[in-house]
Amino acid sequence: MANSIRVVETISELRAAVKQARASGLEIGFVPTMGALHEGHGRLVEVAAAECGFVVVSIFVNPTQFGPNEDFARYPRTPEHDQAVCAQAGAKLIFQPSVAEMYPAGQLSTFVEVPSVSRRWEGEQRPTHFRGVATVVLKLFQIVGADRAYFGEKDYQQLRVIRQMVVDLNTPVQVIGVPTVREADGLALSSRNRYLNPEERQTAVALSAALKAAGRLAAVGEQDAGRIRQELHKTLESAVGVVIDYAEIVDAETLEPLDRLNPDCGARAIIAVRLPSARLIDNAPLPRPGEPA
Ligand code: PAJ
Repeated sequence: MANSIRVVETISELRAAVKQARASGLEIGFVPTMGALHEGHGRLVEVAAAECGFVVVSIFVNPTQFGPNEDFARYPRTPEHDQAVCAQAGAKLIFQPSVAEMYPAGQLSTFVEVPSVSRRWEGEQRPTHFRGVATVVLKLFQIVGADRAYFGEKDYQQLRVIRQMVVDLNTPVQVIGVPTVREADGLALSSRNRYLNPEERQTAVALSAALKAAGRLAAVGEQDAGRIRQELHKTLESAVGVVIDYAEIVDAETLEPLDRLNPDCGARAIIAVRLPSARLIDNAPLPRPGEPA
């Protein structure tokens, strides 16, 4: 039997519920989402529920992180399904505010920017995206007041942006990264996968296949990041209809491109591609020589 779950739409109700949970001695876990929940989101909630007595999930399709030609209007909204996923995974409360509740004046006059780790990759492709993400996540942190907040490695650059923001602004929350949940064939779960037609769904396997190929090279001791990058490109280019936005080997902390893998710093392969119906991103850590790929 799934737990019963409460849904609130206002900041004042949310704060009252969290205050009550705290008063009864529970630690507060927080999972921010935009809804259209899948097992990847479910995993974040499960990890949170294993560590915190009271887990809050926010469901808010945040307009400020979408560019003018992006999919804000058609972003999938599945509130009943989302409630079931949250309850099943052990959340106690859903915070589902309206746009007016989050942005009562229509627009904000304060923004959070994290230029260092935002500048490249997604930041280059989507210039106002991370400002929108960092600002709404800080607002949500202020509203919820959680002890721990859970983010997926699926959006690795986002996770880096949030970690940097929390350090720079002394935000009193512990940020926890959760590994990417994948389909059996390797495709990373994403709310946007539902945009893919059956043919594109097949093609989309190329992203995880490219990451696996890169991982295999690193595991057998290849240290030339250029060679590993070539492997990513080769795999992606062999998939029909895929346009590569970027496919790179980067320092796992700074997200700067690497020339060589270095046992002292973590390395990550990061990919973004366009298919006719959707833009997809994926990433994976590169193993050190001898570690399993
Ligand atoms: P959304 O895309 O709904 O993702 C919510 C959280 O679920 C993010 O931390 C994301 O990395 C994680 N997630 C998505 N797919 C995953 C998968 N396959 N495995 C593990 N985790 C996965 O990311 C956002 O929303 C927004 O930018 C948000 C942080 C809520 C701010 O608006």
